[in-house]
Amino acid sequence: MESRGHWSSRVGFVLAAAGSAIGLGNLWKFPYITWDNSGGAFVLIYLACIAVVGLPIMVCELMIGRMTQKSPVEALREAAGPAWSWIGGAGVLTGFIILGYYIVIAGWTLRYVWQCLVWTINGFDPVQAGGDKFAGEFLTNGPLQVLLTVSFMALTMAVVSRGIGGGIEKAARILMPILLAILALLVVSALTMDGAGEALGFLFTPNFAEVESIAVLEALGHSFFTLSLGMGAMITYGSYLSRKDSVVRSASTVAILDTVIALVACVIMFSVIFSVPEIKEGLSGSKSPVGMLFVTLPTLFYQQVPFGNVLAPLFYLLVAFAALTSTISMLEVVVAYFIDNKGMDRVKATLVGGAGALVISLACAVSLGAMNLPSQVTLPLLAPGKSGVLGVLDHVASNWLLPVGGFFITLAAGWAISRKVSEAELVDENTPGWFKYGVWSFFVRFICPIAVGAIIVAVIVGKDFS
Ligand code: PFF
Repeated sequence: MESRGHWSSRVGFVLAAAGSAIGLGNLWKFPYITWDNSGGAFVLIYLACIAVVGLPIMVCELMIGRMTQKSPVEALREAAGPAWSWIGGAGVLTGFIILGYYIVIAGWTLRYVWQCLVWTINGFDPVQAGGDKFAGEFLTNGPLQVLLTVSFMALTMAVVSRGIGGGIEKAARILMPILLAILALLVVSALTMDGAGEALGFLFTPNFAEVESIAVLEALGHSFFTLSLGMGAMITYGSYLSRKDSVVRSASTVAILDTVIALVACVIMFSVIFSVPEIKEGLSGSKSPVGMLFVTLPTLFYQQVPFGNVLAPLFYLLVAFAALTSTISMLEVVVAYFIDNKGMDRVKATLVGGAGALVISLACAVSLGAMNLPSQVTLPLLAPGKSGVLGVLDHVASNWLLPVGGFFITLAAGWAISRKVSEAELVDENTPGWFKYGVWSFFVRFICPIAVGAIIVAVIVGKDFS
């Protein structure tokens, strides 16, 4: 078997793991759910979830990966015992499923990069861009959906097949700084807009009377998705971490970066939205998350944002980069399993994993309206009220698989791995001074399982917070 790859440095790891965490969850889903939940108070609850549940579980996953240097199935078997290895298997399955539908939406970013370039060169057509016909024709255009999905999968496979240092880390080292630079440019330009003050007020002034209790669960569920937790992605990335890198320092850097980017994405989108009253009113009525990122923003970029015709294609390029570094990590979970457990070489594992996920992706891509049959798919027991392959899979993954995976990972780390072992893993001369092992252990043994257990119970009694 080929020797196991490693990140070349802590910075390389942080960029790759932040690349996994920062994605459509930050740029598409978080602004949408924050808008839906009336801003300020929801943001505070989300921040608390990241600190109280997200960060401790990220430490668990990285710790299990680094201590065993194995992919999730074997890592959990070795760290916690044979009875826990199925959690790793469930993670691989979840990786397949999330990659399957996520890549369809990721593919849309390619179309918007291209479309914005066309608008920038030929002139923007607001009637075309804002119209339902435009969005509708796009969704029902089966061949285009398939082409975008296959292209995005091919990009993802090209990177993953090159391995850790030469593929994943290299891509992250190039893409992440560009992403951060474009975001910085956009946020500076957004802050000069008329609506910036109102946007900041909306985002950072908590009004607890406006949030519903379900928002707590929504924030908790999203903190799993956004930090790539609950399916072993961070166990896998942690397994390429060298022993001299502090797990705690790495985890906290990734969690902070992810959170800052999510907030910056909100500042950008909301500044733009609050600067145009008609758009704000339109959004208040519409609940479409797709609308906010893909339909609303082009109009605003070309009509309101200074230098918008340069920034618009750049912005969608940024979203594409962010999505790519996330899809890479999902495929890597599957590929690492095939390498470690099935003895495949990396190229073969990438081909098998990518092709397998593509089956799900294609079903999602044509179920958006191009073909009638798949859109009839429902799963009343697990995904009540959802139809269509993409909607059902998203519901099952975010409401069931990630929280359940996270629940068992925290139990494995807190109860099945001895304190002596976890303390030795987490506390060394590189550990930041603020980290208190006893506090982490209390959170991982009690607070996290109870909080995550609450999500699962809420899902069982039928609350949809996807
Ligand atoms: N964290 C990614 C995002 O916010 O878009 C999504 C994700 C990536 C979820 C990797 C799970 C995962 F393993």
